[in-house]
Amino acid sequence: MLNSITPNSSQTNGEVIVNITNDNVARRARVREHVNPLAKKYSTAIAPPIWTEVYDNWEQPLSLDIGSARGRYILQMAQLKPNWNFLGLEIREPLVDRCNQVRDQLGLTNLHYIFCNANVSLAGLLPKDSLHEVTVQFPDPWFKRRQQKRRTVQPELVATLAELLLPKAPVFLQSDVFDVAEDMRSHFEANENFVNLAGNGNFADETIFPEHIPTERESSVISQELPVYRSYFQRKPKS
Ligand SMILES: C[S@@+](CC[C@H](N)C(=O)[O-])C[C@H]1O[C@@H](n2cnc3c(N)ncnc32)[C@H](O)[C@@H]1O
Repeated sequence: MLNSITPNSSQTNGEVIVNITNDNVARRARVREHVNPLAKKYSTAIAPPIWTEVYDNWEQPLSLDIGSARGRYILQMAQLKPNWNFLGLEIREPLVDRCNQVRDQLGLTNLHYIFCNANVSLAGLLPKDSLHEVTVQFPDPWFKRRQQKRRTVQPELVATLAELLLPKAPVFLQSDVFDVAEDMRSHFEANENFVNLAGNGNFADETIFPEHIPTERESSVISQELPVYRSYFQRKPKS
């Protein structure tokens, strides 16, 4: 059933449950629209959890979604791909609490959300070579020049991902804001450990990432017939 929480019910008939709507979250938690990731209160790295206690099977491939917000994208992916683990990082704590509640209500053991500033915590969060895939989708644009250091994809984050991702692991980036999409793409192109599969300077075409299902922001952008700029990178082999 859509737009309500019905633990386990639709899993039994094999349907994908997409019931963590904006309404569901907003009704239960007051959530600020934006937070400043450079604020002091987000400057401390969190301690990593014990991963074998987080996931039922930590040996499964791990997919990371940075800026998971209301979490619906990986909520769906975790159900579509039960043989993978999914991790969302999100800086707005009430959203994370709500997402993990929904995860528990649905009995999903391959899905987890963590409240943290990804730019501060990711480096110490996961073991090297533990990531099979990463997505950064519609990150906050921070349009003003003086605010651009608040953007999620920074050279340091790309360097951290180069350590964590396995060789050939895909990196999927998208935004409806051209400058942000170009900024993300250029940071990955500037790191020698990644290859832009569309060729440097190019965005990916529509056929990229065939397994992809739209995020909440993506659905909204598409319904308004606005453009989406996508990039698809691969971690190069490690020497
Ligand atoms: C515009 S939303 C996009 C949400 C989702 N990815 C989608 O496509 O629908 C961007 C999210 O990234 C989160 N975010 C921004 N900076 C972050 C950071 N440094 N670490 C973790 N999350 C961050 C924001 O709180 C927000 O929920």
